[in-house]
Amino acid sequence: MARRKKIYEGKAKILYEGPEPGTLVQYFKDDATAFNAQKKAVIEGKGVLNNRLSEFFMLGLQGVGIPTHFIKRLNMREQLVRQVEIVPLEVIVRNFAAGSMAKRLGLEEGMPLPRPIVEFSYKNDALGDPLVPEEYIIAFGWAQQQELDDIVALALRVNDFLSGVFHGVGIRLIDFKIEMGRIWENDFPRLVIADEISPDSCRLWDIETGRKLDKDVFRQDLGSLSDAYTEVARRLGVLPSNVTHNANGTMIN
Ligand SMILES: Nc1ncnc2c1ncn2[C@@H]1O[C@H](COP(=O)(O)OP(=O)(O)O)[C@@H](O)[C@H]1O
Ligand SMILES: [Mg+2]
Repeated sequence: MARRKKIYEGKAKILYEGPEPGTLVQYFKDDATAFNAQKKAVIEGKGVLNNRLSEFFMLGLQGVGIPTHFIKRLNMREQLVRQVEIVPLEVIVRNFAAGSMAKRLGLEEGMPLPRPIVEFSYKNDALGDPLVPEEYIIAFGWAQQQELDDIVALALRVNDFLSGVFHGVGIRLIDFKIEMGRIWENDFPRLVIADEISPDSCRLWDIETGRKLDKDVFRQDLGSLSDAYTEVARRLGVLPSNVTHNANGTMIN
């Protein structure tokens, strides 16, 4: 196969130049990181599951009219996407208190919020992706006011879609983080959902038992991360047929 130009290697994925201009190939790695990469591990099979799950959610979003960068899945670990200009924000939507919000406000994890809350952190690993108010986003020009309003509206639509899909398989969507990007058309930017949607970037609790089925399993040493992600994929019906577990719980593919 022709050598592809590597454009970026991040914590969870590698980006390669795509076959056509304006496209990229996202390769999903098995690396898991937490606490701004202070905790690291290789979780065999995670990349395969996240590639499938992200495809599933991006196609679902497109199905309800929400634009995404997704073009098609290429193989077990790679998908073809539109190259976008990433808005340098992590857009976080919260339905229940958890994580940094629970800590900051002294709230009990799992407490329902009065309404979905959208917050932003500035995408900068060196600074640990700090939480930023909208005022900063406008003042520093990371997005314009109208675009920011569109970002919030889009994030809430994604929340409604994802909450419903997860609810249908007995999972509570506590919160999630997405990235958005701009595709320029005739000098006008159009917002699309980019990056990935997977249990790496969501908090997912089993509705019946409260069992965590997301990256908190890794952050908090709650057991096998691949078991948790496999359970999510199994419930959604997107488990690749040739991924199974051996006796040690290690994924084979
Ligand atoms: N469609 C896209 N076009 C351009 N960049 C993208 C696109 N989708 C995701 N990205 C960027 O690719 C990188 C994905 O790699 P990842 O391992 O998640 O990186 P990080 O360690 O920065 O989170 C992120 O920096 C993300 O902003
Ligand atoms: Mg990332």
